[in-house]
Amino acid sequence: MSKYEQLMASIRNQINDGVWDVGEKLPSLRKQSSLSGLSLMTVLNAYQALESQGLVVSHPRSGYLVAPKITPPEYKKTKANYHATEHINSNDLIFDVLQTSRQPDLINFGSAYPDPSLYPRAQINRSLATAAKSMPTSAMLDNFPPGNEELRQIISKRYATQGMSISPDEIVITSGALEGLNLCLQSVTQPGDWVIVESPTFYGSIQSLQKLGLKALAIRTHPLTGIDIDALEAALKTHDVKACWLMTNYQNPMGFTLPLDNKKKLASLLKQYQVYLIEDDVYNELFSGNKKPLPTKAFEHSDMTMHCSSFSKSLVAGFRIGWVAAGSQAKAIQKLQLMTTMAASAPMQLAMTRFLTTTSYETHLRQLRRTLAQRKYAMWKRLNQYMPDDVNIIFSEGGYFIWIELPEHINAYDLYLKALKHNVHIAPGAMFSLTEQFNHCFRLNASFECTDQHVDGIKTLASLVKQMERK
Ligand SMILES: Cc1ncc(COP(=O)(O)O)c(C=O)c1O
Repeated sequence: MSKYEQLMASIRNQINDGVWDVGEKLPSLRKQSSLSGLSLMTVLNAYQALESQGLVVSHPRSGYLVAPKITPPEYKKTKANYHATEHINSNDLIFDVLQTSRQPDLINFGSAYPDPSLYPRAQINRSLATAAKSMPTSAMLDNFPPGNEELRQIISKRYATQGMSISPDEIVITSGALEGLNLCLQSVTQPGDWVIVESPTFYGSIQSLQKLGLKALAIRTHPLTGIDIDALEAALKTHDVKACWLMTNYQNPMGFTLPLDNKKKLASLLKQYQVYLIEDDVYNELFSGNKKPLPTKAFEHSDMTMHCSSFSKSLVAGFRIGWVAAGSQAKAIQKLQLMTTMAASAPMQLAMTRFLTTTSYETHLRQLRRTLAQRKYAMWKRLNQYMPDDVNIIFSEGGYFIWIELPEHINAYDLYLKALKHNVHIAPGAMFSLTEQFNHCFRLNASFECTDQHVDGIKTLASLVKQMERK
């Protein structure tokens, strides 16, 4: 354990043992440094890591205070293990909600992307300008599938820092993670096949399944611990499943991370049933604490696991650069890409490579994680302050989503329509499901600074919920 991790562990134990009360100020950086004999930098790192885990909060003038304890709500399991849908018909709701989020002057709690002001815009633009100036005439061919070689090597080295051995030859650069996910699904299924998703799931998976004429098995999923492995096994036993499209870290929309043991169980079950895993892992850089969570691809069954990710949530969304670590499907995916979009944009691949080789991505990520943790915590506090007591506000570590369960008789789509009239946008639960099970839920993007305007947005939502409860 490094020195800052030792200090963190000792303060964490002190908080758990009640040495420090909620709201109490920890020793200042200087005082802690002289008490522990550690450098100011080491103490700062420990305090910041505790902050990103939600154990302490920093206040501009008071230093670091012990954060209130977050008690997860009780969660009722539904009786059904899974829900089967043979004919997917995702209505216009998803499209309408996404289009509406483009209106100017909205308080955009419904967006799936982080506050764009958190992207290092000047450095990204510089990389793009330099890449464009020095781009050779052969750029398009040089960056054909599987994509820019240097970029694939950089991505492969990032896997290596997690102890994973992913050859650059296995990686295909795509136009955002979404293209990768779609290509993966297409490469291992035929129309009419069964595919497993979470319930609720990222709406992109519902749309892709519909587009490819696939059938969905939506598995019972817990908002804090993720997909129910027993329910998953029940579905594998009863259906001839071809693939699973799952999010194992900071799931959209609920925010959970699948516990490590469940990732291992998932890998071993899918190996037993010889089912492909399409692992949608676009939020993995936005972890709290000090370690990136491992994907399921790190365990057995790696060759039949396609790990999809991108820079959209952690660096810049508009470049549309993502990738698939595609295992045995690498060649098939390249062929499909050549038949559809041909290749990810060459200037964008070059600009991304330029950014990653000339700028410290890690420094940016550290700052981003810290800011997101602070903002999510601030937003959670305000939600608790203003929402009625019978609303479940589900806080999970990492990422920037907060999942909210209203009393069951309140329809979150109605809340969405009412809130829009006040310029507040949310993502209603119906977008993420093939059933009506989540109609009383919504997802809130907590990546924005909790300004007066955002607090007003939360107050508006809370007062609308109270009005709807009275009816
Ligand atoms: C779970 C999930 N997967 C994939 C994507 C798409 O990522 P990209 O913008 O890299 O295509 C998103 C974007 O919202 C997402 O939330």
